[in-house]
Amino acid sequence: MSTGATLGLYGLGTMGSALALNILDKGFGLHVSNRSDQVVDAFRNDAAAAGLADNLSAHHDLETMVPAMPGPRAVILMVPAGAPVDETIDRLRPLLTPGDAIIDAGNADFNDTRRRTEALEAAGLTYIGMGVSGGEEGARHGPSIMVGGTEQAWSGIRSMIESIAARYEGVPCAAHLGPDGAGHFVKTVHNGIEYADMQMIAEIYGLMRHGQGLAPAEIGKTFAVWDSGPLQSYLVGITGKILKAEDAPGVPAVDAILDQAGQKGTGRWTVIEAVKLGQSATTVEAAVAARSWSAEKPLRETGEGLYGQTAGPVDLSEAQLEQALLAGRIIAYAQGFRTLLAASDAYGWSLDPARIAEIWRAGCIIRSALLDDIAKAFRGDLPQGQLVFAPAFKDMLDDSLPALRAVVAQAASGGHPVPALAAALGFLDSMTRARGTTDLVQAQRDFFGRHGFDRVDGGEDRHGPWWR
Ligand code: 6PG
Repeated sequence: MSTGATLGLYGLGTMGSALALNILDKGFGLHVSNRSDQVVDAFRNDAAAAGLADNLSAHHDLETMVPAMPGPRAVILMVPAGAPVDETIDRLRPLLTPGDAIIDAGNADFNDTRRRTEALEAAGLTYIGMGVSGGEEGARHGPSIMVGGTEQAWSGIRSMIESIAARYEGVPCAAHLGPDGAGHFVKTVHNGIEYADMQMIAEIYGLMRHGQGLAPAEIGKTFAVWDSGPLQSYLVGITGKILKAEDAPGVPAVDAILDQAGQKGTGRWTVIEAVKLGQSATTVEAAVAARSWSAEKPLRETGEGLYGQTAGPVDLSEAQLEQALLAGRIIAYAQGFRTLLAASDAYGWSLDPARIAEIWRAGCIIRSALLDDIAKAFRGDLPQGQLVFAPAFKDMLDDSLPALRAVVAQAASGGHPVPALAAALGFLDSMTRARGTTDLVQAQRDFFGRHGFDRVDGGEDRHGPWWR
């Protein structure tokens, strides 16, 4: 594709219609279509009501939209991940001509993006896997955008993407991060960090609610205060607002919501890919597990019936809870970035972690005050790419780690589940021990299976005395 391609967008759900309005708002012409005629008509009305219909061509199906678009064309897909993307590509392929591009702007498993890129590029088409973060509000007014594809593909869409993206101190939060699946991989890890951060926030809320007996509105006030300090972030900010909201007079909004969390797959993909890469994003894993356990409510009810409720008092100050959350958050980011760097090596992407942190500073769901520090740390000298070893983060963790220990210890003795915070602490305690306890694991492996081990003294004998 080349600069100046005619733009189309298929899939006018919440995110698709918000992104389409954003594109029109920035003065670009746009063709749109959707599976259902009513959705197309409603979108046309919404665009007209917003004064944005001048450059809009709305079509009832893909088969009429694409021929109406002068080439070269770039069609943005905003359809659910998985089979719906493959089905839409199958319908699009015969309508497109070499030089046209398909941009998958939904969340996608990067393995699918790599497969689709290979197949479409063999047919002379361009495929761009593009992560878009920021929810509905971000898509409408400025998301963070993570692009994967060729340099040529990026140069064809760059000006449009940069004009619809969020800005941090005037700089667009959009970047070309690497070829094929790189953009979708980075977006997946972004979501993994999002899962971990959300879970740790919920764990701190749980301690305040059930261990200190505070009402949601009071806890919300504390989160609002934290949002002006080192924890400043979109997720802490919305948590303050959520906890202060009421479903009916005197009924906190959270109390009206079933405690069964949904998940569409990006957290799970992060965990799976991290493990495949020899990494372990344990805070994300804990968050995914917590959502899965939450979905099994009848089992939890049986468990509570058998074991009784475990929610004893906890003696923790607001400052300790704030610092513990900060330490947990730093460790979740560190695990996420380490996973990104491992993928970059494995797939030859040359990901720039500082640039990734920079484009996450505005627009996306995990935007936080820490990201500017993370970008600076990666621009500086960072031992082994490990964020927790960067001097600025070492200082922050020296200050906040005692609070994380106190919170995990109090939670454990009071019987409050804090799987993500405990995972964060376990990771740091493991990664700061030059000699751990896997010497014993190696001995066990050798004992039952003659697997052999390396000796501390470099000696030749690779088996223990149990085999002599
Ligand atoms: C974002 C969000 C967005 C979506 C999540 C929700 O960055 O804008 O991450 O992509 O809200 O994917 O995912 P779950 O339904 O799995 O929580």
